[in-house]
Amino acid sequence: MSVLVVGGAGYIGSHTVKELLRAGREPIVYDDLRKGHREAIGDVTFVNGDLHDSQAMKEAILEYRVDGVIHFAAFIEVGESMKDPQKYYRNNVTGALSLLGVMRQTGVGRIIFSSSAAVYGEPQQVPILEDAPLQPTNVYGRTKMIVELALADYATAYGLNYAALRYFNVAGADPSGDIGEHHNPETHLIPLIIKTLMGQRAKFSLFGTDYPTPDGTCIRDYVHVTDLARAHILALEWLEQNNQSRIYNLGNGNGFSNREIIETVERVTGKKLNMVEESRRPGDPAALVAGSRKIKDELGWKPEYDSLETIIETAWRWHTSRPTGYSR
Ligand code: UFG
Repeated sequence: MSVLVVGGAGYIGSHTVKELLRAGREPIVYDDLRKGHREAIGDVTFVNGDLHDSQAMKEAILEYRVDGVIHFAAFIEVGESMKDPQKYYRNNVTGALSLLGVMRQTGVGRIIFSSSAAVYGEPQQVPILEDAPLQPTNVYGRTKMIVELALADYATAYGLNYAALRYFNVAGADPSGDIGEHHNPETHLIPLIIKTLMGQRAKFSLFGTDYPTPDGTCIRDYVHVTDLARAHILALEWLEQNNQSRIYNLGNGNGFSNREIIETVERVTGKKLNMVEESRRPGDPAALVAGSRKIKDELGWKPEYDSLETIIETAWRWHTSRPTGYSR
């Protein structure tokens, strides 16, 4: 039996594929390569298909005797989601519902869903626990929340079992340096700092220095992509053994301000960043830090690359060994 990894050629998807292989599983990557990269998955079985193409997905599930799904295929840019909500509702919500429909038709009853800390919005308490209220402040977060609500309803009505994993800030790259983060456009903090230090960008813009935090910049919780990928394997194994569903935060429980990130990248690389301070980016909560005890206690998740230096070192290794990223 195999696992359909929808959006498996993307950043988190490709790292999860690598971990599935390391765990002796058989991943089948289903991706339309609009955002993903064929090179990121090596010679793993690959189906070039659209998330909305129910027929193609159904055929892949039947042909490869799929009995579990991991769903990564979603748009992730908060700013873009506010400017073009239809794009986000169509891909992230309608696309996920289409996938759930195919799963019902083919009798596949397990799914791991990539959710996000963005479902919490501006948290009332930090660290954030899984039972905190869901009050997303942007369209991206709302699309993730809506799919979580649908999963809960499908679980009750149809007996679907799911794990919704609420990622905090994912960063770093596989320690081998073979695969890593390549977004187009890149909007995330650590890769943008690195690209500026590598001379690919003239300057780095720091968004907001007047937040109610000790140094005035936003605080985030960074989790290494390989640790995150391993959480998917644990969640899949758990779903295979338990006829239930679960929701977990995935972060390290340590908050770092944007200035602390910049200082650490400068220290790790020995380079000085050309930075300009700019106004706040709309939709950014001041501080997002995960309470991740639940997945540690229940699934035994143990992050291996939980120091910020290691996260940055692996990201630096990837970007400097492949300065232009994947070729396609
Ligand atoms: N930042 C800058 N300059 C930049 C880019 C980012 O100062 O050029 C700041 C942001 O304003 C923010 C922090 O760096 O304060 C982190 O920003 P990221 O864009 O790296 O990540 P987010 O915290 O915005 O992450 C959010 C959600 C995730 C989601 C992601 C999607 O928390 O769940 O957006 O891109 F996946």
